[in-house]
Amino acid sequence: MARHTVVTMPGDGIGAIVLPEAVRVLEKVGFDADYLHADIGWECWRRTGDPLPDATIALLERHRLGLFGAITSKPKKEAAEDLDADLRDHGFDYSSPIVGLRQHFDLDVCIRPCRSFAGNPLNFVRRGSAEPIDEPMIDVVIFRQNTEGLYAGIEWTDPPQAVRDALSLHPNWRRFAETPEEDLAVSVRLFTRRAVRRILTAAFGYAREHGYRSVTVCEKPNVLRETGGMMVEEAGKVHADFPEIELRSTNVDAQMMWLTRNPEDYGVVVAGNLFGDIVSDAFAGLVGGLGFAGSGNIGDDVAVFEPTHGSAPRYAELEPSIVNPIAMILSAAMLLDHVGETRRAEAVRRAVGDVVVEGRVRTYDMMRLPGGPDVVGRGAATTQQVTDAILARLR
Ligand code: NAI
Ligand code: MG
Repeated sequence: MARHTVVTMPGDGIGAIVLPEAVRVLEKVGFDADYLHADIGWECWRRTGDPLPDATIALLERHRLGLFGAITSKPKKEAAEDLDADLRDHGFDYSSPIVGLRQHFDLDVCIRPCRSFAGNPLNFVRRGSAEPIDEPMIDVVIFRQNTEGLYAGIEWTDPPQAVRDALSLHPNWRRFAETPEEDLAVSVRLFTRRAVRRILTAAFGYAREHGYRSVTVCEKPNVLRETGGMMVEEAGKVHADFPEIELRSTNVDAQMMWLTRNPEDYGVVVAGNLFGDIVSDAFAGLVGGLGFAGSGNIGDDVAVFEPTHGSAPRYAELEPSIVNPIAMILSAAMLLDHVGETRRAEAVRRAVGDVVVEGRVRTYDMMRLPGGPDVVGRGAATTQQVTDAILARLR
């Protein structure tokens, strides 16, 4: 029997295209694993009325290791309309299965590495001081709290009276007290000290293990005094166990403004859920964008690795497929890291780096072409050709 079993959840659209490419890479690099398919996503919802079937949850419970492609999500009304005719009006309710997975398994630590590959034409460049152009090599790893904050899912339009009553306990409520019921929307930003400590401990632990010099807390504690404030306060305490690592703090808005000034000066960055989402997309944009952004969702028991991109339905039907498999492949490398297969993970990243720097095999995004059926005719590589090139560099 193989040493690991990976639950593969291709999902929808290009998720189902890139995931098999990552499995080819894992097999070639000699990872000792079996792969079990599990359903998730929009097509699954349409067929069964459930985008996250119990069978998928059960497989993850058992094997604890997942690779996820991407899913399609649509607004409530379309969700109801898209449902198989037999299932309509039977009380099925759509909710995002990836958010569901994160919450069900308490995958509260989200890791999003943003590293430049030398020679990537999508790397950020800026006007230089000595040279005409600087191309800073960025190596930032974002730790995003994955289950709470503004994405806790506690929100109302026209909240129940009890919620209004509770809000009225706050002195600042006075300005809103006269707002008509249906004109009031509330989304709660909720932090628990436990989750805050966990994301910070994970971030500092990672910094120590991988030799990063600093951990930057990216929040907004001067305004969000309670939630952001808790993050900063706990960061100070957790830092006491990691004295060799510098603790820094930035405000998320200023961080965005200065993003391109000195991105090479950051190491590990830690933030709540929404700010972590924003800051990780921002850094990802400096190192190649969606085609290069992998991530891990990690809990105590279960971990699921996925590219940051979605299902890109416009590209899903193209034959041959043109999307970049690298984000998915880098996510698979993170899976290898997670199970202690560091040497194989490094080999995968090196092979990706070799293909990027050599520059002969590039998907359309790396050539800055608008995506479409004609890109292969214009010299872009197909999804499978990029994987083939990576495989050829793996021994
Ligand atoms: P998207 O990430 O699917 O695509 C946006 C654009 O980025 C694409 O049109 C394409 O130009 C480019 N792109 C994405 N992945 C690429 C790749 N591997 N290689 C080259 N180019 C790539 O985001 P969009 O269009 O906003 O959403 C499409 C669907 O995906 C929606 O239903 C959305 O809800 C869902 N989604 C799912 C996510 C997930 O499964 N975690 C995350 C984001 C969106
Ligand atoms: Mg995002």
